[in-house]
Amino acid sequence: MTATKPEPRPDAPEADTRPVLTVENLTVVYETDEPVTAVRGADLTLHRGEILGLAGESGCGKTTLAYAINRLHRPPARIASGGITFHDRSGDDVDILALADAELRSFRWDKLSMVFQGAMNALNPVTTVKAQLRDTLLAHRPGMSRKAIRERSEDVLRRVGVDPRRLGSYPHELSGGMRQRVMIAMAMLLEPQIMVMDEPTTALDVVVQRDILREIVRLRDELDFAVVFITHDLPLLLEISDRIAVMLDGEIVELDSARRLYRDARHPYTRKLLGSFPSLSGSRGAFIRDGAAPTDTTEEQA
Ligand SMILES: Nc1ncnc2c1ncn2[C@@H]1O[C@H](COP(=O)(O)OP(=O)(O)OP(=O)(O)O)[C@@H](O)[C@H]1O
Ligand SMILES: [Mg+2]
Repeated sequence: MTATKPEPRPDAPEADTRPVLTVENLTVVYETDEPVTAVRGADLTLHRGEILGLAGESGCGKTTLAYAINRLHRPPARIASGGITFHDRSGDDVDILALADAELRSFRWDKLSMVFQGAMNALNPVTTVKAQLRDTLLAHRPGMSRKAIRERSEDVLRRVGVDPRRLGSYPHELSGGMRQRVMIAMAMLLEPQIMVMDEPTTALDVVVQRDILREIVRLRDELDFAVVFITHDLPLLLEISDRIAVMLDGEIVELDSARRLYRDARHPYTRKLLGSFPSLSGSRGAFIRDGAAPTDTTEEQA
């Protein structure tokens, strides 16, 4: 609904369908005694500035796919086939799988960042928030002045709803919700064009979770990054996503606008997932995001 987008971006059409990331025929195998094909022939296009939800049951391969996109997969995981291309704002295409290690280090955080599953416990317990933000900034912008670092750190914290006075805090001094906000601030720090969020709010209570999700949608509207938002919570995805990909046993079996998926899911598995949430039959549908006007169905193909 338009309520979350009070002002349409002035120079962009409602639904920007230019790709920022393309995953083609990606297959990831865990080369264990009994090899597991965790992602099979996945095709996925992420549009510039969209929130793409990735749904599916535990073990279907969501995290494996997210790691591969960031090239964070480690043995026994191996990319058996396929390609992942980042389409930079500058017009350059980057073959993520072909990046040399040094290129990869500067690429991550800068162009594409990730909030990990269980990330709220991923902050370094022995350093302050300030030091962790500073280290990430300096690793990518070595010449950055102390003043600029301070300003940027305060700015990202403010944006995720954390009082900048918290810069001096250690992670254990923060609530779970605040730690998770700090992780999101960290992911935003270098203004990446893509943020991959793997179950970023699952461990939080519902109220905090709602606040953070609202924040993510608002930030996206403001800053125009694209989000891959992973969760097994399909109703939640229906509320925040522009489009949703449904994964089953390593395959993306359906990818469509949230509204179309809700109204007219094609794959039996999607229908089963939708059917297993009784709350969806009630008022929930009213919150479903849709780039097109509610009565307009022609745009939904995008
Ligand atoms: N290190 C590993 N070695 C072997 N198999 C693995 C490894 N990590 C994951 N797998 C297998 O790969 C498949 C996909 O796992 P993955 O963690 O990507 O699923 P997921 O959709 O993220 O699940 P969840 O919702 O529980 O986070 C599962 O069958 C899992 O057992
Ligand atoms: Mg996972």
